[in-house]
Amino acid sequence: MSEKHSVGKEWDAATESWVDFVRRGNDYYREYLNNPATLELIGDVSRLIVLDLACGDGYNTRILAKKGAKVTGVDFSEKMIELAKREEAEEKLGIDYHVADAADLRILPSNHFDLVTCFMSLQDIENYRRAISEVARVLRHRSQFVFSILHPCFCPIIVNGKRVTTTKRYFGVVTYPIQWKMERLIKPFKTTSFHRTLTDYFDALSKSRLCVSKLVEPRPTPEGLQKHPQLREVLVIPQSIIIQATKIADK
Ligand SMILES: C[S@@+](CC[C@H](N)C(=O)[O-])C[C@H]1O[C@@H](n2cnc3c(N)ncnc32)[C@H](O)[C@@H]1O
Repeated sequence: MSEKHSVGKEWDAATESWVDFVRRGNDYYREYLNNPATLELIGDVSRLIVLDLACGDGYNTRILAKKGAKVTGVDFSEKMIELAKREEAEEKLGIDYHVADAADLRILPSNHFDLVTCFMSLQDIENYRRAISEVARVLRHRSQFVFSILHPCFCPIIVNGKRVTTTKRYFGVVTYPIQWKMERLIKPFKTTSFHRTLTDYFDALSKSRLCVSKLVEPRPTPEGLQKHPQLREVLVIPQSIIIQATKIADK
């Protein structure tokens, strides 16, 4: 079984627990850290044509649609897209969902989108270089790609079954398992992530003529700190990094 295939199966198997976690607001890193900072960075999306790449069950896709964007959501997990479509049937926001690998977006036209978002997923996408080049292809000239990832400099990874900090093991790509087993989940699950360096991401962006225009290492909101004191740890060391890159003309 190929890596891509098995990673997709993991997310299919995770869907029920993931959707409960996210929709009940239990993902407080999303609610009080990453979403506020990313949505602020993105700004006004009304009337924009947006692609939400690796959209999961469409939780953030719906946020963008409710802000007035015309959104397409893509994920390679059939189960995630099935549940996203079910929500769309319940509350019509005009979102088109597709099952596709981020590394092969041939179902989508070139030079079409005003914005591509990818929330906390690029570290889970095996062929990130190909995915980034597909993002550049579907974006219109001078439009933006905004993505967030686990911070490659600070988030621990698993090497030979052992948890190590990336301050001890930074260089080189590492494929590692994430065991999701917090009490906030109805059922534990396992996914696969890929540790890469900041240089790897920046090289892939620049090869695709995506020029980094903003970078944010988000801090929790005051409300989040009050409700979830655990978030204080991200006042000291960032959990994530959000990057905005602008598509520039070919030389
Ligand atoms: C951590 S979840 C984030 C989902 C969503 N962006 C959100 O914030 O709710 C990661 C998502 O990436 C998707 N994914 C991983 N690899 C992918 C790939 N190669 N192509 C498309 N989707 C992928 C998974 O199926 C999963 O839904």
